[in-house]
Amino acid sequence: MTARLTIQRPDDWHLHLRDGAALAAVLPHTAARFARAIVMPNLKPPVTTTEAAQAYRARILAALPAGMRFEPLMTLYLTDRTSPAEILRAKASGIVHGCKLYPAGATTHSDAGVTDIRRLDDALACMAEADLPLQVHGEVTGAEVDVFDREARFIETILAPLAERIPRLRIVFEHVTTRAAVQFVRGARAGLAATITPQHLLLARNALFAGGIRPHLYCLPILKTEDDRCALVDAAVSGDPRFFLGTDSAPHARHTKENACGCAGVYSAHAGIELYAEAFESAGALPRLEAFASHFGADFYGLPRNTDTITLVKSPWTAPAAYPFGDDSLVPWRAGEPLAWQLEAGSAP
Ligand code: DOR
Ligand code: ZN
Repeated sequence: MTARLTIQRPDDWHLHLRDGAALAAVLPHTAARFARAIVMPNLKPPVTTTEAAQAYRARILAALPAGMRFEPLMTLYLTDRTSPAEILRAKASGIVHGCKLYPAGATTHSDAGVTDIRRLDDALACMAEADLPLQVHGEVTGAEVDVFDREARFIETILAPLAERIPRLRIVFEHVTTRAAVQFVRGARAGLAATITPQHLLLARNALFAGGIRPHLYCLPILKTEDDRCALVDAAVSGDPRFFLGTDSAPHARHTKENACGCAGVYSAHAGIELYAEAFESAGALPRLEAFASHFGADFYGLPRNTDTITLVKSPWTAPAAYPFGDDSLVPWRAGEPLAWQLEAGSAP
């Protein structure tokens, strides 16, 4: 008999949707699976104001195909100049659900990011007061720091002091990739949680070099060791509400990935829940998927859980070699390779 799994509809608590033709290309993948997503603000130029977030939200809703439902949960991109007044406007708008800290230079479109966290203390204190969560890209940027140590170094030098300095600020440590990060979150004060991506649950860094270099598996933070991966799986399947789903699906045009200086980002939205089902099944923990995917994130953000459901069936399919992506194409994770689970027809809203 074919295995089936019905769960309350999940949400994606960390997603890159881009804009224009790219947005139109990827949005249906997310909307078929997830009711809502925390939408990252690292556009070019970045979404630094409430007004820009409102306009971006309208473009997302306009790009949604007829008959699909999806609620974009907007974020602001913090810069050295973000003011407490902008934080208050964001909170009052009702459509902004957090502000994203990109250390300047850490990743794609982060050049306008924060150069010194201490410059932001007033804005961060205002966020704590207004109960607007902070989403953190947790990597230091110094060129001298080994790329595999950047997350651990960020915890010691930036995140741990910040969490103590502003004790009421709610913080999401995005896309945790290491055992050190899992241990930190478990031991942290209340109000601190983490998202975990499907690639960090299913792959260790060897996958980047399996038979040759694999640009479509390059993301930031980069894949880590097998020991780190095991710690992430333990955290995801543990039932600890501080760990929840965030795909970090990050589409880039094929030619910008297959390039002498390829962009960071794994595209996973085409199988955004199916990949997690694979990871949970491998850990013998499928019954824990629903809470991780559909409960803990909503609870953290103070939003109602979704009331409808999706059904996954264990029936192998092959991801396409590429999807159309404006004038270019988009190579999804597992292109031309099998996926174990699929959405049952009719699961899309
Ligand atoms: O791999 C990544 N891609 N990591 C990020 O932090 C940003 C993202 C993107 O926007 O492409
Ligand atoms: Zn991201």
